[in-house]
Amino acid sequence: MANGVPPPGTADIFPEESRRWRKLESVAADVFARYGYGELRTPVFEYTEVFQRGLGGETEVVQKEMYTFEDRGGRSLTLRPEGTAGVMRALLNTDVLNGVEQRVYYCGPMFRGERPAAGRKRQFHQIGVENVGRVSPELDAECIAMLMHLLEEIGITGSVLKINSRGVMADREPAGELLRNYFAGHVADMCPDCKNRFERNLWRILDCKEAGCRQIVAGAPDYFSAYSAESQEYFNRVLASLDALGVKYQVDRQLVRGLDYYVHTVWEVTHDGLGGQNAIAGGGRYELFLPDQSKPVRGVGFAAGMERLMLVQDALKAAQVDPEEPPVFLVSLGTAARLENLKLAAKLRHSGRRVALEVEDKSMKAQMRSANRAGAVTVVIRGEDELARGVAVVKNMAGGEQQEIPLGELADKL
Ligand code: HAM
Repeated sequence: MANGVPPPGTADIFPEESRRWRKLESVAADVFARYGYGELRTPVFEYTEVFQRGLGGETEVVQKEMYTFEDRGGRSLTLRPEGTAGVMRALLNTDVLNGVEQRVYYCGPMFRGERPAAGRKRQFHQIGVENVGRVSPELDAECIAMLMHLLEEIGITGSVLKINSRGVMADREPAGELLRNYFAGHVADMCPDCKNRFERNLWRILDCKEAGCRQIVAGAPDYFSAYSAESQEYFNRVLASLDALGVKYQVDRQLVRGLDYYVHTVWEVTHDGLGGQNAIAGGGRYELFLPDQSKPVRGVGFAAGMERLMLVQDALKAAQVDPEEPPVFLVSLGTAARLENLKLAAKLRHSGRRVALEVEDKSMKAQMRSANRAGAVTVVIRGEDELARGVAVVKNMAGGEQQEIPLGELADKL
């Protein structure tokens, strides 16, 4: 174990940086609140079946990437690789299965055992939302518009929204048949992964990144036309609503998304500022099955990777933090003054001010240097003489001017 180095694919977030995280979370909370979403906090681990059943046993996440362990009673638990399944598990405690709408958002760490790279972590953080209980293309469009609204508020311009329809389960057979017939003639030229996908997970061939496979996919038949009229109509209504909302999109028939619960609308937002891992957010409509439930939970939602949002902000020089109020720095000359300043600091802090002070016997010069380093704009200086007279010297760091102020008036003058 190397000193001070966290496990691969994880990171420490120091105060300077965590202020950015807080800002991002608070802007998101504020935007989501305007659409009626409240925060739901669920555990970071769930029973493994929640993800196995919820995400589908064939998904790459479930097959290869989950952090699974046993609890003391021998039950299998898994660190959440994504937020949706756990949120659905929690919402079983509400009336969502009876069509009562719930609007929730969440943010926090997710865990996937992927190969770490820039923008790809093993512990990463998502901000996600779920609109659960009702089915309507207008809700899908509103959800997408809310994501684009969030990106706008956090200064991310130039992103691309790609959208597609996965149809419903009944559409997969006829549409899959079209694809299977076409791909069957090209299996020999596919990458090893896609040869495997041809047998087990046909649709994922569509979003393979290998050049050879992309060429094959480019000639694939238009499977959307094999969807039922209702499914086509649903998708067209999503697009019409997006048009009405002024949200720009690109229909991308190669977008299938990596999780099995999606039906109808799926989307992804990419940004060039990220390089390789270019998806900053993804989502869609889903029908998610939980253990011991015969009915799926129906909803629509998305999640954005917080690390990736911040990488894009960096690339755009659009990092956001709330300005911090500079501290008042208390300079003490002598032990008695230090004790009095300790009391003064407590009083000012209780009244809401930020205060810094030196706790050892240091020269005036050294304390002024500390004040500078702490970013203080105002310094309060007290020694034996000031204590005896019940005053304090208040110095403005910028202009250098100083003023003697009676102690009783100090709190108001700072
Ligand atoms: P996802 O596409 O797997 O969807 O993840 C959403 C976002 O999380 C990605 O677009 C990316 O920004 C970020 N992300 C994923 N994996 C990593 C990683 N290893 N390192 C850094 N960032 C990553 C979901 O998770 C769905 N639950 C979204 C959803 C909600 N669909 C419906 N509701």
